Amino acid sequence: MATVLASPRALAQMKMDDMPNMDSMPGMDMGGHTGHDMGTMAQGAVTLPEGQPLRELPLLANEAGRPDLFKARLTASPATARFAEGQDTPILAYNGTSPGPLIEAFEGDRVEITFANRIDGEASTIHWHGMPVPADQDGNPMDPVAAGTERVYAFDLPEGSAGTYWYHPHPHGRTAEQVYRGLAGAFVVKAKADPVPAEYGDTVLVFTDLRLAADGSMPANSMSDLMNGRVGDHVLVNGQKNPRLAVAKGAKRRLRLYNATNARFLKLAFDGAPMTIIGTDGGQLAAPVAADEILLSPGERIELVVAFDNPGPITLYTLDYDRGWMGTGRPADAGLTLLTVDVSQETGEAMPPIPARLRPIAPLAAPALSRRLVLTETMAMNVTGMEMGFLINGKAFDMGRVDIVGKAGETELWEIVNRADMDHPFHVHGTQFQVIEHERDGKVSKPPFLAWKDTVNVARGETLRLLLRQERPGRRMYHCHILEHEQLGMMGVLDVTA
Ligand code: C2O
Ligand code: CU
Ligand code: CU
Repeated sequence: MATVLASPRALAQMKMDDMPNMDSMPGMDMGGHTGHDMGTMAQGAVTLPEGQPLRELPLLANEAGRPDLFKARLTASPATARFAEGQDTPILAYNGTSPGPLIEAFEGDRVEITFANRIDGEASTIHWHGMPVPADQDGNPMDPVAAGTERVYAFDLPEGSAGTYWYHPHPHGRTAEQVYRGLAGAFVVKAKADPVPAEYGDTVLVFTDLRLAADGSMPANSMSDLMNGRVGDHVLVNGQKNPRLAVAKGAKRRLRLYNATNARFLKLAFDGAPMTIIGTDGGQLAAPVAADEILLSPGERIELVVAFDNPGPITLYTLDYDRGWMGTGRPADAGLTLLTVDVSQETGEAMPPIPARLRPIAPLAAPALSRRLVLTETMAMNVTGMEMGFLINGKAFDMGRVDIVGKAGETELWEIVNRADMDHPFHVHGTQFQVIEHERDGKVSKPPFLAWKDTVNVARGETLRLLLRQERPGRRMYHCHILEHEQLGMMGVLDVTA
């Protein structure tokens, strides 16, 4: 991390004395490891039950009573969850559950969701991550919903927009905290004609990352969390630790994996069950691609078909991935069991094969212009403590400033240069993009397949090139999806003109 003398303007205002709940945190120091040590202590003290049947996310009911319209209500409010035996944990929830209810709608539908903010004293928004919605319906930080008020989000889901989206708060300065306290949910847009066999089912797996103190509460962010992003102690699937899913031998299952954690990189594999990638953030690939392992960085989603041809318990587990870590206390990434699949001894009903073709992806081409966005980290010491900055082109986020002006309908080439010591998952609102090139140490490589993405990891030292076209005018955010980094400045504003 570069130590620079930047003007206070260029640094996010993160000083020790600005931080809420700082003095309520025992053992706080500047060592950069406190958060994780506390986490480890908490882990020792708090055991979460494992092996319960995988809970299906509650479906958000459509109140419209007619096709083509999805109408519902989402209320964000304080709630309690029971993660550990005999302990109530105060959380934030949508309609009382965390993760929030699963939203399922179809291409071509109109969506009208009333959002009520019942979080005490905090503004919030609902951001429709990855979805092609108008800028003024996208829950940007510029459009806060004050505590105790409500608003309607209304948008149409265009034909061809089927994909694996999600929703979460995006209020200025509070996104990271509201998300780790429990506010995030899955939004699946279904295709009217889907080539993937219905026999595979369609199971949503939302990964979150819980840290519990010994008293069952969620500790506030430490300095280490602010630098590295908050990594918890328990990676949960649909709110449960290592739940169990029963399938018949020979079954193929369609799984949608969501990394809804603040900052946990998940490199994943199933032991003894081959994975086939059929879709990414913005929907299906042109053709299925076999994969031995996948890397899902914060904010990303992937759609898989997994073939369970071997009997016995099959686990979904994590592999080591070094995403760059500041200070000591790098969490152990490898060897976590996220999900156990119990495959029956007897073979179940025969499953149709994975179709060879899914849906065509038209490559974006001939960019009208290119842009370069350089990601850096800065750190400076002053009398009040340590100031950290996460910058794009040397600037920290300013809601009142437009960083980029673009034109609706025009294809642009974006070059994202990571000159920092950590990986930064880069996200753009309002559209899906196509990654065309990775460059590292002068070596250029192409991605293995064409895909629609809204979030992509840019490894430290990497330059990534993508093609992007915004169809709708308005102001859009682009940022690192490590939510603490977004909050500390690594975000900009793109103004798309008509
Ligand atoms: Cu999911 Cu602006 O983010
Ligand atoms: Cu987003
Ligand atoms: Cu980042």
